[in-house]
Amino acid sequence: MKILIFAFLALAAYVAADNKVVCYYNSKAYFRDGQGKFDVNFIDPALQFCTHLIYGYAGINAETFKAQPLNELFDVTRDNYRHITELKRRFPGLRVLLSVGGGEDIGDDGNIKYRTILESVDHRLAFVNSAQALVKNFGFDGLDLAWEFPETKPKKIRGKISSFFSKLKHKIVGESVIDEKAEEHKEQFTALVREIRNAFRHDGLLLTMSVLPNVNSSVYYDPRALAPNLDFITLEAFDFYTPKRNPKEADYPAPLYELIDRKYDENVDYQVRYWLQKGAPNNKLILGIPAYGRAWKMDEDSSISGVPPLSIDGALEAGPYSKEEGLLSYPEVCVKLANPQKLTTAAGKHLRKVGDPSKRKGTYAFRTPDENGEGGAWVGYEDPDTAGNKASYARAKGLGGIAIVDITLDDFRGLCTGNKYPILRAAKLGL
Ligand SMILES: *[C@@H]1O[C@H](CO)[C@@H](O)[C@H](O)[C@H]1NC(C)=O
Repeated sequence: MKILIFAFLALAAYVAADNKVVCYYNSKAYFRDGQGKFDVNFIDPALQFCTHLIYGYAGINAETFKAQPLNELFDVTRDNYRHITELKRRFPGLRVLLSVGGGEDIGDDGNIKYRTILESVDHRLAFVNSAQALVKNFGFDGLDLAWEFPETKPKKIRGKISSFFSKLKHKIVGESVIDEKAEEHKEQFTALVREIRNAFRHDGLLLTMSVLPNVNSSVYYDPRALAPNLDFITLEAFDFYTPKRNPKEADYPAPLYELIDRKYDENVDYQVRYWLQKGAPNNKLILGIPAYGRAWKMDEDSSISGVPPLSIDGALEAGPYSKEEGLLSYPEVCVKLANPQKLTTAAGKHLRKVGDPSKRKGTYAFRTPDENGEGGAWVGYEDPDTAGNKASYARAKGLGGIAIVDITLDDFRGLCTGNKYPILRAAKLGL
């Protein structure tokens, strides 16, 4: 019996050791102000947890279709690519990949180049060769494709009457189509992945991909055909609800399971099961966990209970560190949470946290507006508990690991409790 238990523990340790902890690093964080400014020196405490570091983001030249740095001055002239890949000297097990796209590469005509490039063998070849050169020249271990396919339109929770009319409208004009050549783009993307794999084989470079939020997997990805040519696939299963997509209604941005009266596919569990059912091996799937919250403004019409979904008045103004409307980094949320002991004195300025004992929905925090209708806020966010819980889910499903998107929005200074990287840390522990 003792030997059995020992064998089991050894096996468990072995399996755990194999799990990947993929850390996304968005280089633009260097340009944030004050406490949000992320210097390379802040990375070290994260790297004791990360098996992979993904440098975000490179882009595509719309004329030549070559992969290129998005910030030549910072990435290349000021050597940030090298500063990051040289971290491998001190962390020998670490693998560093360069990611293309990620929603950060928006040209004059949006992200249409991510589709046109697929349509021609020559354009794909130009991309493959240039991406390979970029990866090798700067010492990256591989490439991540965070391909900017068009996002789905937000789906509203409709009342019965408007739902009737909308069905009628769809009967007449058909579903609004965002990409008429979607079926071809799906096949061409599979071809691109195969072509990169073949080019990379000789150098043993890694190839991974990130499924961006709100890109419909069933439209653009063929899991069974893609998986053999990829080292892993990160599902960025979050941002189902955002102030940009849903300015009038706030809801849990990244619930783990399907919730009552919500769309069946707007949750982590659906996305994971979809990829598994369509033939992706579980050990190649990585569950993406956000290190930030989505934030809206509560007004007089918002339910004072704060229980989502609730009527809302658009995006909350940008946070002091991350400076992006409708988004708050984890430290921007945690510093605003009311300390229960001091609630009476500080209630006006603070956010009241509502945790999630069900472990299915996610955490939120809110503040009702004052008598003038000002100062209301509602934030749905990931905290160490929910991140750890999602990591446990990934383990239970036998997935390849978890990803934190991204570490520059986690509490890298330890402002919340003194511990640096609490989201990353909790996720690693839950794995
Ligand atoms: C994704 O596409 C499928 C059809 O391939 C459709 O049934 C589904 O509603 C879409 N999901 C979203 C979130 O738009």
